[in-house]
Amino acid sequence: MNNVLEGLAYNVQTFGCQMNKHDSERISGLLQAQGAHEVGSVDRADVVVFMTCCVRESAETRLLGHVNSIKNMPAREGSPLGRRIIAIGGCMGQNYGAGLSERAPRIDVVFGTHNIAELPGLVEEAVHGTGLKHRTLDQADDFPTDLPSKREHPWSAWLPITVGCDNFCTYCIVPYVRGREKSRPVEDIVAEAERYVADGVKEITLLGQNVNSYGRDLYGSPAFARVLDAVCATGIDRVRFATSHPKDLSDEVIDAFARLDALMPALHLPVQSGSNGVLERMNRRYTREHYLDLVRKVRAARPDIALSTDVIVGFPGETDDDFEDTLRLVDEVGYNQVFTFIYSPRTGTPAASYPDAVPRAVSQRRFDRLFEVVEKRAFEANQLDLGSVVSVLVEGASKGDARVLAGRSPRNQNVHAPLPAGVGADELAGTFVNVRIDEAKTWYLSGEVV
Ligand code: SAH
Ligand code: SF4
Ligand code: F3S
Repeated sequence: MNNVLEGLAYNVQTFGCQMNKHDSERISGLLQAQGAHEVGSVDRADVVVFMTCCVRESAETRLLGHVNSIKNMPAREGSPLGRRIIAIGGCMGQNYGAGLSERAPRIDVVFGTHNIAELPGLVEEAVHGTGLKHRTLDQADDFPTDLPSKREHPWSAWLPITVGCDNFCTYCIVPYVRGREKSRPVEDIVAEAERYVADGVKEITLLGQNVNSYGRDLYGSPAFARVLDAVCATGIDRVRFATSHPKDLSDEVIDAFARLDALMPALHLPVQSGSNGVLERMNRRYTREHYLDLVRKVRAARPDIALSTDVIVGFPGETDDDFEDTLRLVDEVGYNQVFTFIYSPRTGTPAASYPDAVPRAVSQRRFDRLFEVVEKRAFEANQLDLGSVVSVLVEGASKGDARVLAGRSPRNQNVHAPLPAGVGADELAGTFVNVRIDEAKTWYLSGEVV
Protein backbone atom coordinates (compact mmCIF):
# COMPACT_ATOMS: atom_id res chain seq x y z
CA MET A 1 0.00 0.00 0.00
CA ASN A 2 1.30 3.44 -0.84
CA ASN A 3 1.92 5.58 2.21
CA VAL A 4 1.33 9.32 1.97
CA LEU A 5 4.40 10.08 4.06
CA GLU A 6 6.67 7.78 2.05
CA GLY A 7 9.57 9.75 0.62
CA LEU A 8 8.81 13.01 2.46
CA ALA A 9 11.67 14.88 4.11
CA TYR A 10 11.08 16.04 7.69
CA ASN A 11 12.90 18.20 10.20
CA VAL A 12 12.17 18.48 13.93
CA GLN A 13 13.07 21.67 15.79
CA THR A 14 13.16 21.07 19.54
CA PHE A 15 12.83 23.69 22.28
CA GLY A 16 12.39 23.35 26.04
CA CYS A 17 13.42 20.53 28.35
CA GLN A 18 14.52 16.91 27.98
CA MET A 19 10.90 15.80 27.90
CA ASN A 20 10.59 17.50 24.55
CA LYS A 21 13.91 16.10 23.36
CA HIS A 22 12.69 12.64 24.15
CA ASP A 23 9.31 13.31 22.51
CA SER A 24 11.17 14.51 19.42
CA GLU A 25 13.04 11.21 19.24
CA ARG A 26 9.69 9.46 19.29
CA ILE A 27 8.39 11.70 16.54
CA SER A 28 11.40 10.82 14.43
CA GLY A 29 10.76 7.15 15.09
CA LEU A 30 7.10 7.47 14.07
CA LEU A 31 7.77 9.44 10.89
CA GLN A 32 10.55 7.10 9.82
CA ALA A 33 8.27 4.12 10.40
CA GLN A 34 5.99 5.73 7.79
CA GLY A 35 8.82 6.00 5.26
CA ALA A 36 9.75 9.66 5.77
CA HIS A 37 13.41 10.61 6.17
CA GLU A 38 15.12 13.19 8.34
CA VAL A 39 16.96 16.22 6.92
CA GLY A 40 19.20 18.59 8.84
CA SER A 41 17.51 21.88 8.01
CA VAL A 42 14.10 23.45 7.62
CA ASP A 43 14.61 24.57 4.00
CA ARG A 44 15.17 21.01 2.79
CA ALA A 45 12.09 19.65 4.60
CA ASP A 46 8.53 19.00 3.40
CA VAL A 47 7.33 18.65 6.98
CA VAL A 48 8.68 20.79 9.83
CA VAL A 49 7.71 19.86 13.38
CA PHE A 50 8.25 22.37 16.17
CA MET A 51 8.40 20.91 19.68
CA THR A 52 7.65 23.88 21.87
CA CYS A 53 8.00 25.10 25.46
CA CYS A 54 5.75 27.52 27.34
CA VAL A 55 7.51 27.64 30.70
CA ARG A 56 8.42 31.33 30.23
CA GLU A 57 7.11 34.00 27.90
CA SER A 58 10.52 34.48 26.27
CA ALA A 59 10.45 30.85 25.10
CA GLU A 60 7.12 31.48 23.38
CA THR A 61 8.16 34.73 21.72
CA ARG A 62 11.30 33.14 20.30
CA LEU A 63 9.35 30.19 18.98
CA LEU A 64 6.68 32.28 17.29
CA GLY A 65 9.35 34.43 15.66
CA HIS A 66 10.97 31.29 14.33
CA VAL A 67 7.74 29.82 12.94
CA ASN A 68 6.67 33.08 11.34
CA SER A 69 10.08 33.53 9.74
CA ILE A 70 9.72 30.31 7.74
CA LYS A 71 6.09 30.62 6.69
CA ASN A 72 6.89 32.26 3.36
CA MET A 73 9.92 30.14 2.58
CA PRO A 74 9.37 28.43 -0.80
CA ALA A 75 8.88 24.66 -0.93
CA ARG A 76 12.10 22.68 -1.26
CA GLU A 77 13.23 21.84 -4.77
CA GLY A 78 11.65 18.60 -5.96
CA SER A 79 9.12 18.58 -3.13
CA PRO A 80 6.36 16.08 -3.91
CA LEU A 81 3.92 18.34 -2.02
CA GLY A 82 4.83 21.64 -3.63
CA ARG A 83 4.58 23.26 -0.18
CA ARG A 84 5.84 22.90 3.37
CA ILE A 85 3.71 21.52 6.18
CA ILE A 86 4.28 23.14 9.56
CA ALA A 87 3.25 21.24 12.70
CA ILE A 88 3.41 22.59 16.24
CA GLY A 89 3.54 20.18 19.15
CA GLY A 90 4.87 20.11 22.68
CA CYS A 91 3.71 22.35 25.50
CA MET A 92 2.48 25.35 23.49
CA GLY A 93 0.49 22.97 21.31
CA GLN A 94 -1.06 21.52 24.44
CA ASN A 95 -1.65 24.87 26.11
CA TYR A 96 -3.12 26.87 23.25
CA GLY A 97 -4.45 24.23 20.83
CA ALA A 98 -6.13 25.61 17.72
CA GLY A 99 -5.80 29.14 19.14
CA LEU A 100 -2.16 29.06 18.11
CA SER A 101 -3.10 29.71 14.50
CA GLU A 102 -3.97 33.28 15.50
CA ARG A 103 -0.41 33.94 16.62
CA ALA A 104 1.20 31.83 13.93
CA PRO A 105 -0.90 32.07 10.78
CA ARG A 106 -0.39 29.44 8.09
CA ILE A 107 0.43 26.54 10.39
CA ASP A 108 -1.08 23.23 9.30
CA VAL A 109 -1.08 21.01 12.37
CA VAL A 110 -1.29 21.51 16.13
CA PHE A 111 -0.93 18.55 18.47
CA GLY A 112 -0.69 18.22 22.24
CA THR A 113 1.72 16.47 24.60
CA HIS A 114 -0.61 13.46 24.85
CA ASN A 115 -1.10 13.15 21.08
CA ILE A 116 2.32 12.32 19.74
CA ALA A 117 1.20 9.01 18.25
CA GLU A 118 -1.41 10.87 16.19
CA LEU A 119 1.06 13.14 14.43
CA PRO A 120 1.58 10.99 11.30
CA GLY A 121 -2.21 10.85 10.81
CA LEU A 122 -2.55 14.61 11.25
CA VAL A 123 0.21 15.28 8.73
CA GLU A 124 -1.53 12.93 6.31
CA GLU A 125 -4.78 14.88 6.75
CA ALA A 126 -2.88 18.11 6.12
CA VAL A 127 -1.41 16.67 2.91
CA HIS A 128 -4.88 15.83 1.66
CA GLY A 129 -6.74 18.93 2.72
CA THR A 130 -6.50 22.53 3.78
CA GLY A 131 -7.29 24.17 7.11
CA LEU A 132 -5.80 23.54 10.52
CA LYS A 133 -5.71 19.94 11.74
CA HIS A 134 -5.47 19.76 15.48
CA ARG A 135 -5.73 17.31 18.36
CA THR A 136 -5.16 17.90 22.04
CA LEU A 137 -6.27 15.44 24.69
CA ASP A 138 -6.67 16.54 28.29
CA GLN A 139 -4.82 13.60 29.71
CA ALA A 140 -3.53 10.27 28.50
CA ASP A 141 -4.84 7.18 30.31
CA ASP A 142 -1.62 5.22 30.42
CA PHE A 143 2.08 5.82 30.45
CA PRO A 144 2.80 6.51 26.77
CA THR A 145 5.22 3.71 26.15
CA ASP A 146 6.05 1.53 23.16
CA LEU A 147 6.25 4.26 20.54
CA PRO A 148 9.21 3.76 18.22
CA SER A 149 12.04 6.15 18.89
CA LYS A 150 15.12 7.29 17.00
CA ARG A 151 17.90 8.39 19.38
CA GLU A 152 19.77 11.63 18.76
CA HIS A 153 23.10 10.01 19.71
CA PRO A 154 23.71 6.26 19.51
CA TRP A 155 25.64 6.25 22.80
CA SER A 156 23.22 8.08 25.08
CA ALA A 157 19.52 7.69 25.78
CA TRP A 158 16.79 9.56 27.62
CA LEU A 159 14.59 7.18 29.55
CA PRO A 160 11.37 8.66 30.94
CA ILE A 161 10.31 7.03 34.21
CA THR A 162 7.49 9.43 35.00
CA VAL A 163 5.50 11.89 32.94
CA GLY A 164 3.48 14.82 34.24
CA CYS A 165 3.73 16.65 37.54
CA ASP A 166 1.52 16.87 40.65
CA ASN A 167 3.43 19.55 42.52
CA PHE A 168 1.77 22.72 41.29
CA CYS A 169 4.50 25.16 42.20
CA THR A 170 2.51 28.39 41.95
CA TYR A 171 4.60 29.90 39.13
CA CYS A 172 4.69 26.83 36.91
CA ILE A 173 2.66 25.86 33.84
CA VAL A 174 4.11 22.35 33.51
CA PRO A 175 1.41 20.48 35.52
CA TYR A 176 -1.22 22.05 33.25
CA VAL A 177 0.46 21.07 29.99
CA ARG A 178 1.92 17.69 30.97
CA GLY A 179 -0.94 16.41 33.12
CA ARG A 180 -0.90 14.33 36.30
CA GLU A 181 2.16 12.40 37.35
CA LYS A 182 2.27 8.83 36.03
CA SER A 183 5.00 6.35 36.72
CA ARG A 184 6.15 3.59 34.48
CA PRO A 185 6.46 0.08 35.96
CA VAL A 186 9.99 -0.85 37.08
CA GLU A 187 10.04 -3.91 34.78
CA ASP A 188 9.35 -1.72 31.72
CA ILE A 189 12.12 0.68 32.68
CA VAL A 190 14.60 -2.14 33.18
CA ALA A 191 13.60 -3.81 29.91
CA GLU A 192 14.22 -0.57 28.03
CA ALA A 193 17.56 -0.05 29.80
CA GLU A 194 18.61 -3.60 28.90
CA ARG A 195 17.78 -2.98 25.25
CA TYR A 196 19.95 0.13 25.34
CA VAL A 197 22.87 -1.71 26.91
CA ALA A 198 22.62 -4.43 24.25
CA ASP A 199 22.56 -1.66 21.68
CA GLY A 200 25.84 -0.17 22.89
CA VAL A 201 24.43 2.82 24.80
CA LYS A 202 26.91 4.15 27.39
CA GLU A 203 24.81 6.63 29.31
CA ILE A 204 21.16 6.64 30.36
CA THR A 205 19.45 9.72 31.77
CA LEU A 206 16.31 8.90 33.72
CA LEU A 207 13.69 11.58 33.20
CA GLY A 208 10.78 12.97 35.14
CA GLN A 209 9.64 16.38 36.40
CA ASN A 210 10.22 14.99 39.88
CA VAL A 211 11.92 11.59 39.73
CA ASN A 212 11.98 11.45 43.55
CA SER A 213 8.26 10.81 43.73
CA TYR A 214 8.52 7.99 41.21
CA GLY A 215 6.27 5.06 42.03
CA ARG A 216 3.86 6.77 44.43
CA ASP A 217 0.95 6.15 42.03
CA LEU A 218 1.97 2.55 41.25
CA TYR A 219 3.37 1.20 44.49
CA GLY A 220 1.86 3.48 47.14
CA SER A 221 5.21 4.89 48.17
CA PRO A 222 8.17 6.41 46.30
CA ALA A 223 10.49 3.82 44.79
CA PHE A 224 13.09 5.82 42.91
CA ALA A 225 16.04 4.23 44.75
CA ARG A 226 14.79 0.85 43.49
CA VAL A 227 14.88 2.15 39.92
CA LEU A 228 18.44 3.39 40.37
CA ASP A 229 19.56 0.01 41.69
CA ALA A 230 17.82 -1.88 38.91
CA VAL A 231 19.08 0.34 36.10
CA CYS A 232 22.67 0.32 37.40
CA ALA A 233 22.45 -3.49 37.61
CA THR A 234 21.97 -3.71 33.82
CA GLY A 235 25.69 -2.97 33.40
CA ILE A 236 25.23 0.48 31.86
CA ASP A 237 28.37 2.64 32.26
CA ARG A 238 26.75 5.88 33.33
CA VAL A 239 23.41 6.79 34.87
CA ARG A 240 22.09 10.30 35.44
CA PHE A 241 18.68 11.66 36.31
CA ALA A 242 16.66 14.87 36.16
CA THR A 243 14.90 16.45 37.92
CA SER A 244 14.79 16.12 41.71
CA HIS A 245 12.38 18.01 43.90
CA PRO A 246 14.08 18.76 47.25
CA LYS A 247 10.96 17.97 49.25
CA ASP A 248 11.08 14.35 48.06
CA LEU A 249 14.81 13.60 47.98
CA SER A 250 15.02 10.59 50.28
CA ASP A 251 17.88 9.14 52.33
CA GLU A 252 17.71 6.01 50.15
CA VAL A 253 18.40 8.04 47.02
CA ILE A 254 21.19 9.97 48.74
CA ASP A 255 22.65 6.67 49.84
CA ALA A 256 22.54 5.42 46.23
CA PHE A 257 25.18 8.03 45.38
CA ALA A 258 27.50 6.36 47.87
CA ARG A 259 26.70 2.81 46.75
CA LEU A 260 26.38 2.82 42.98
CA ASP A 261 29.48 3.36 40.86
CA ALA A 262 27.50 3.83 37.66
CA LEU A 263 25.46 6.64 39.21
CA MET A 264 27.38 9.74 38.18
CA PRO A 265 28.37 12.25 40.89
CA ALA A 266 26.16 15.07 39.65
CA LEU A 267 22.86 16.22 41.11
CA HIS A 268 20.50 18.88 39.79
CA LEU A 269 18.51 20.06 42.81
CA PRO A 270 16.42 23.13 41.96
CA VAL A 271 16.17 25.47 44.94
CA GLN A 272 14.23 28.33 43.21
CA SER A 273 14.76 30.73 46.15
CA GLY A 274 16.74 30.99 49.36
CA SER A 275 13.96 32.80 51.23
CA ASN A 276 11.49 30.80 53.29
CA GLY A 277 8.71 33.32 52.65
CA VAL A 278 9.16 33.10 48.89
CA LEU A 279 9.46 29.30 49.00
CA GLU A 280 6.16 29.15 50.84
CA ARG A 281 4.41 31.36 48.31
CA MET A 282 5.90 29.25 45.54
CA ASN A 283 4.33 26.17 47.22
CA ARG A 284 7.70 24.41 47.21
CA ARG A 285 7.02 22.75 50.58
CA TYR A 286 10.58 22.82 51.95
CA THR A 287 12.61 25.41 53.82
CA ARG A 288 16.00 26.87 53.17
CA GLU A 289 17.27 24.94 56.22
CA HIS A 290 15.93 21.64 54.89
CA TYR A 291 17.57 22.30 51.55
CA LEU A 292 20.96 23.09 53.07
CA ASP A 293 20.67 19.98 55.19
CA LEU A 294 20.13 17.91 52.03
CA VAL A 295 23.23 19.46 50.48
CA ARG A 296 25.25 18.43 53.55
CA LYS A 297 23.93 14.87 53.42
CA VAL A 298 24.54 14.50 49.69
CA ARG A 299 28.11 15.76 50.06
CA ALA A 300 28.70 13.40 52.97
CA ALA A 301 27.55 10.50 50.78
CA ARG A 302 29.57 11.56 47.74
CA PRO A 303 32.16 14.25 48.54
CA ASP A 304 33.05 14.86 44.88
CA ILE A 305 29.44 15.47 43.79
CA ALA A 306 28.75 18.37 41.42
CA LEU A 307 25.62 20.30 42.33
CA SER A 308 23.51 22.39 40.00
CA THR A 309 20.26 24.24 40.55
CA ASP A 310 17.53 26.51 39.15
CA VAL A 311 16.77 29.93 40.64
CA ILE A 312 13.90 32.30 39.87
CA VAL A 313 14.42 35.98 40.70
CA GLY A 314 11.66 38.57 40.85
CA PHE A 315 8.88 36.27 42.08
CA PRO A 316 5.90 38.44 43.16
CA GLY A 317 6.58 40.03 46.55
CA GLU A 318 10.33 39.19 46.54
CA THR A 319 11.97 41.86 48.73
CA ASP A 320 15.61 42.91 48.82
CA ASP A 321 16.02 40.79 51.94
CA ASP A 322 14.48 37.75 50.24
CA PHE A 323 16.88 38.19 47.38
CA GLU A 324 19.85 38.52 49.74
CA ASP A 325 18.82 35.17 51.25
CA THR A 326 18.99 33.62 47.78
CA LEU A 327 22.36 35.19 47.08
CA ARG A 328 23.76 33.88 50.38
CA LEU A 329 22.43 30.39 49.74
CA VAL A 330 23.95 30.23 46.25
CA ASP A 331 27.26 31.48 47.64
CA GLU A 332 27.19 29.02 50.50
CA VAL A 333 26.44 25.93 48.40
CA GLY A 334 29.00 26.75 45.71
CA TYR A 335 27.21 25.17 42.76
CA ASN A 336 28.97 23.95 39.62
CA GLN A 337 26.14 25.40 37.62
CA VAL A 338 23.06 27.55 38.28
CA PHE A 339 20.30 28.16 35.76
CA THR A 340 18.88 31.57 36.57
CA PHE A 341 15.53 32.86 35.38
CA ILE A 342 13.58 36.06 35.74
CA TYR A 343 10.04 35.27 36.88
CA SER A 344 7.58 35.19 33.99
CA PRO A 345 3.84 35.21 34.83
CA ARG A 346 2.00 32.32 33.19
CA THR A 347 -1.74 32.70 32.63
CA GLY A 348 -3.69 30.12 34.61
CA THR A 349 -1.11 29.66 37.37
CA PRO A 350 -1.83 31.01 40.89
CA ALA A 351 1.19 33.34 41.02
CA ALA A 352 0.04 35.16 37.88
CA SER A 353 -2.55 36.92 40.04
CA TYR A 354 -0.32 37.54 43.09
CA PRO A 355 0.09 41.21 44.06
CA ASP A 356 3.41 43.08 44.36
CA ALA A 357 4.94 42.29 41.01
CA VAL A 358 8.66 43.07 41.03
CA PRO A 359 9.54 45.78 38.46
CA ARG A 360 11.51 44.45 35.53
CA ALA A 361 14.50 46.72 36.20
CA VAL A 362 14.74 45.44 39.79
CA SER A 363 14.57 41.81 38.63
CA GLN A 364 17.23 42.47 36.04
CA ARG A 365 19.55 44.04 38.63
CA ARG A 366 19.07 41.06 40.95
CA PHE A 367 19.62 38.68 38.07
CA ASP A 368 22.93 40.35 37.18
CA ARG A 369 24.15 40.32 40.78
CA LEU A 370 23.22 36.68 41.16
CA PHE A 371 24.98 35.78 37.95
CA GLU A 372 28.22 37.30 39.23
CA VAL A 373 28.14 35.02 42.27
CA VAL A 374 27.20 32.04 40.11
CA GLU A 375 30.14 32.59 37.77
CA LYS A 376 32.61 33.14 40.57
CA ARG A 377 31.57 29.97 42.42
CA ALA A 378 31.40 27.86 39.23
CA PHE A 379 34.94 28.94 38.38
CA GLU A 380 36.12 28.00 41.86
CA ALA A 381 34.33 24.64 41.76
CA ASN A 382 36.07 23.73 38.50
CA GLN A 383 39.53 24.53 39.92
CA LEU A 384 39.22 21.42 42.08
CA ASP A 385 39.76 19.28 38.97
CA LEU A 386 43.09 20.82 37.99
CA GLY A 387 45.76 18.15 37.69
CA SER A 388 43.35 15.23 37.95
CA VAL A 389 42.58 12.67 35.26
CA VAL A 390 38.90 12.46 34.37
CA SER A 391 37.06 9.91 32.27
CA VAL A 392 35.33 11.69 29.39
CA LEU A 393 32.46 10.34 27.31
CA VAL A 394 33.28 11.89 23.95
CA GLU A 395 30.45 13.67 22.11
CA GLY A 396 32.41 14.72 19.01
CA ALA A 397 34.43 17.71 17.89
CA SER A 398 34.13 20.89 19.96
CA LYS A 399 31.92 23.56 18.40
CA GLY A 400 34.76 26.00 17.85
CA ASP A 401 37.53 23.69 16.61
CA ALA A 402 37.36 20.43 14.61
CA ARG A 403 40.74 19.31 15.99
CA VAL A 404 39.51 19.45 19.58
CA LEU A 405 37.28 16.79 21.09
CA ALA A 406 34.44 17.66 23.46
CA GLY A 407 32.74 15.43 25.97
CA ARG A 408 31.42 15.11 29.50
CA SER A 409 33.15 14.23 32.74
CA PRO A 410 31.39 12.15 35.40
CA ARG A 411 30.53 15.43 37.12
CA ASN A 412 28.86 16.51 33.87
CA GLN A 413 31.44 19.19 33.12
CA ASN A 414 32.26 20.04 29.52
CA VAL A 415 35.78 18.81 28.76
CA HIS A 416 37.91 19.77 25.76
CA ALA A 417 41.18 18.18 24.61
CA PRO A 418 43.16 18.22 21.35
CA LEU A 419 42.47 15.07 19.33
CA PRO A 420 45.33 12.53 19.42
CA ALA A 421 47.26 12.49 16.10
CA GLY A 422 45.54 10.58 13.33
CA VAL A 423 42.22 10.14 15.15
CA GLY A 424 38.99 11.85 14.06
CA ALA A 425 36.40 13.18 16.50
CA ASP A 426 33.75 10.98 14.85
CA GLU A 427 35.76 7.84 15.55
CA LEU A 428 35.96 8.70 19.24
CA ALA A 429 32.35 9.82 19.65
CA GLY A 430 30.59 7.54 22.12
CA THR A 431 33.81 6.17 23.63
CA PHE A 432 35.57 6.99 26.90
CA VAL A 433 38.95 8.72 26.96
CA ASN A 434 40.99 9.83 29.97
CA VAL A 435 41.92 13.49 30.03
CA ARG A 436 44.42 15.12 32.39
CA ILE A 437 42.98 18.53 33.25
CA ASP A 438 45.42 21.42 32.92
CA GLU A 439 43.03 24.32 32.59
CA ALA A 440 39.76 25.04 34.41
CA LYS A 441 37.49 27.81 33.13
CA THR A 442 34.06 28.79 34.41
CA TRP A 443 32.07 26.62 32.00
CA TYR A 444 34.57 24.00 30.81
CA LEU A 445 37.75 22.11 31.57
CA SER A 446 40.53 21.37 29.13
CA GLY A 447 43.56 19.13 29.05
CA GLU A 448 45.42 16.36 27.21
CA VAL A 449 44.28 12.84 26.39
CA VAL A 450 46.43 10.39 28.40
N1 SAH B 1 10.34 19.93 37.15
C1 SAH B 1 11.50 20.70 37.17
C2 SAH B 1 11.51 21.99 36.43
C3 SAH B 1 10.76 22.24 35.20
S1 SAH B 1 10.77 23.89 34.63
C4 SAH B 1 11.75 21.04 38.60
O1 SAH B 1 10.83 21.18 39.37
O2 SAH B 1 12.88 21.21 38.92
C5 SAH B 1 12.48 24.36 34.72
C6 SAH B 1 12.73 25.59 35.52
O3 SAH B 1 12.10 26.70 34.93
C7 SAH B 1 12.19 25.57 36.93
O4 SAH B 1 13.02 24.87 37.81
C8 SAH B 1 12.11 27.03 37.26
O5 SAH B 1 13.31 27.51 37.81
C9 SAH B 1 11.89 27.69 35.90
N2 SAH B 1 10.53 28.21 35.77
C10 SAH B 1 9.38 27.52 35.78
N3 SAH B 1 8.32 28.35 35.65
C11 SAH B 1 8.82 29.61 35.56
C12 SAH B 1 8.25 30.90 35.42
N4 SAH B 1 6.93 31.08 35.38
N5 SAH B 1 9.08 31.98 35.35
C13 SAH B 1 10.43 31.81 35.41
N6 SAH B 1 11.01 30.62 35.55
C14 SAH B 1 10.24 29.51 35.62
FE1 SF4 C 1 6.92 22.91 37.71
FE2 SF4 C 1 7.19 22.53 40.29
FE3 SF4 C 1 6.37 20.52 38.76
FE4 SF4 C 1 8.88 21.37 38.57
S1 SF4 C 1 7.94 20.41 40.37
S2 SF4 C 1 7.48 20.93 36.89
S3 SF4 C 1 8.68 23.54 38.93
S4 SF4 C 1 5.25 22.39 39.19
FE1 F3S D 1 8.91 23.62 28.69
FE2 F3S D 1 7.11 21.78 28.53
FE3 F3S D 1 9.51 21.15 29.38
S1 F3S D 1 6.77 23.85 29.22
S2 F3S D 1 10.18 23.02 30.36
S3 F3S D 1 9.00 21.85 27.37
S4 F3S D 1 7.60 20.30 30.10
